[in-house]
Amino acid sequence: APAMAGRDFLSNLDMTPQELRAVLDTAHSMKRGQWRQVKPLAGLTLALIFEKASLRTRTTFDVGMYQLGGHAITLTNQEIGLGTRERISDVARNLERWVDGVMGRVYLQQTLQELAQHARIPVINGLSDMLHPVQLLADYQTIEEHLGEVRGKRIVYIGDGNNLANSHIHMGVLTGADVTIVTPVGYEPNGAVLMDAVKQGARITLTNDLAAVDGADVLYTDVWISMGQEAEAEHRRRAFRGYQVNAAMLDRIAPNGIFLHCLPAHYGEEVVEEATDHPKSCVFNQAENRLHAQKALLYHILGGTQPRW
Ligand code: CP
Ligand code: NVA
Repeated sequence: APAMAGRDFLSNLDMTPQELRAVLDTAHSMKRGQWRQVKPLAGLTLALIFEKASLRTRTTFDVGMYQLGGHAITLTNQEIGLGTRERISDVARNLERWVDGVMGRVYLQQTLQELAQHARIPVINGLSDMLHPVQLLADYQTIEEHLGEVRGKRIVYIGDGNNLANSHIHMGVLTGADVTIVTPVGYEPNGAVLMDAVKQGARITLTNDLAAVDGADVLYTDVWISMGQEAEAEHRRRAFRGYQVNAAMLDRIAPNGIFLHCLPAHYGEEVVEEATDHPKSCVFNQAENRLHAQKALLYHILGGTQPRW
């Protein structure tokens, strides 16, 4: 049965460890093709709102809804003007009359909270400046495929203390994984996210020291200049020098360790081709898993919903 029926998913902490387990189990079985004949979302529509660009999130939510028998419509912010052409609360009170769920890729986490507060349908976070929870579902599916059980594994995120770093910390809370965040001074992850995670007993290490990469089971990086930070590009490139993932850095992780990157890659900055093409790299399998993991999430949130027409 669907584990998260009718619920919002704005953060990985909106699910329990048991619900995460259910979603990942479904994701693995969907990837094996065991759901091919099943259309659990027949008659349902998901609206996809984009304030920012996307390849993976847009394609996988759209294809995922189609494969489960449902439908997706994409609304760019140029069209709908969230908070400019129209109040966020009114966008929510319109969408809930027509569609069964909303996925939002936005600047502010607050925008998603406002949508969720005013819409009686589930709202899913497809990336905000603070968090990227659906990405981490695919990431942990990928880790399980390559390394088996996550508990006790050393997961090292290197680079900017951004939305990806914050969501990694949340996964430390949910899974008990040993999560290390390595950033330059001044680019540490969100303090409130960190404090909350530590309070909940997560094993999180924060450091500026590259030695933390040694022996990692998973090495993970993301862009140094996130969407919306283009004006800081030069300054950031200077601050992050030395934190690039290249072949020499991949030599330092565990012999059977893996390299992950949520993509898009900014080659020559946080990563180089020799790393994404390296035998330890799983980045394209990771991208594939966006589809399986989000289909699983959609099933667990929307699966019990009655088509409204
Ligand atoms: N990783 C990720 O979310 O990719 P997009 O920005 O292309 O959706
Ligand atoms: N940190 C990046 C992730 C892109 C998927 C950004 O927010 O632009």
